[in-house]
Amino acid sequence: MTDKKPELSAAMKRKLQPKVFKKNPIIGTKFTIAISSAKGGVGKSTFATNLALALKQIGCKVGLLDADIYGPSIPKMFGIKEKPKSDGQKLEPILKYDIQCMSIGFLTDQETPMIWRGPMVTSAIKTFTQKVNWKDLDFIIIDMPPGTGDTQLTFSQDIKMDGAIIVSTPQEVALLDVKRGIKMFDKLGVKILGLVDNMSYFLGDNGKKHNIFGEGGVKRTAEEFKKKFLGEIMIDPIVGKAADDGMPIVELDPNNKISKIYIELASKVKSEFIK
Ligand SMILES: Nc1ncnc2c1ncn2[C@@H]1O[C@H](COP(=O)(O)OP(=O)(O)O)[C@@H](O)[C@H]1O
Ligand SMILES: [Mg+2]
Repeated sequence: MTDKKPELSAAMKRKLQPKVFKKNPIIGTKFTIAISSAKGGVGKSTFATNLALALKQIGCKVGLLDADIYGPSIPKMFGIKEKPKSDGQKLEPILKYDIQCMSIGFLTDQETPMIWRGPMVTSAIKTFTQKVNWKDLDFIIIDMPPGTGDTQLTFSQDIKMDGAIIVSTPQEVALLDVKRGIKMFDKLGVKILGLVDNMSYFLGDNGKKHNIFGEGGVKRTAEEFKKKFLGEIMIDPIVGKAADDGMPIVELDPNNKISKIYIELASKVKSEFIK
């Protein structure tokens, strides 16, 4: 009997090393922040557009990248109909409301479905992160698709991500997906800046608060996973209407009470990165 351990070959040692991915920064931008949640329809795009505009309001230079290849929302929510120019090498982002924007929806007909396999989605994401002339940005806000699929993996493994904000509505079905989303980012080493409770309540004409989807679910989930709870955004038809009309509420009316909530959230995000 000998207690000498068998020597591992160099190749075997390499194999056993945890895989380290080479993460590229998005050229032209300081901080990359993803707006995510594994569920669709919880208000990620609404949040991403308004957060981008709120960061602009407090003096940051901001880009907005629509990473939802199958269901892009930025063209509609920002009212952009033009196509981006290309110099043969790189695409020029479209400047709207002083935000540099890019979306697959600028390149395709709005009503044509994107019937693409995963590798094509990955390749589109690479184009948008490496072949767009993003210029002097403090923040680029990434509007993520629902799910925990190719897009999330590509961003987490190939791109230097500085944080993710998880948006959810408070009902249990949404929270179940959110928990999966949190675990995914934790596993892939992307820092979660915090959770936001969107459409958390409705204020009646008499000032009475109605918790349509239940109360406190997002905050409890944040506590369960030891993440920050960033705040609540109430449900208000004007938020949806402004997005549908192509000018999100923060741009339409920066003094609206919901715009003020977005601006406060933007200040929290900014102070995490810029002192
Ligand atoms: N705080 C809010 N108040 C009212 N409507 C909202 C609010 N947040 C989102 N919405 C609406 O909910 C719908 C889904 O939002 P969207 O941002 O497209 O979700 P996601 O990107 O998660 O799929 C849209 O019609 C949007 O206008
Ligand atoms: Mg969306």
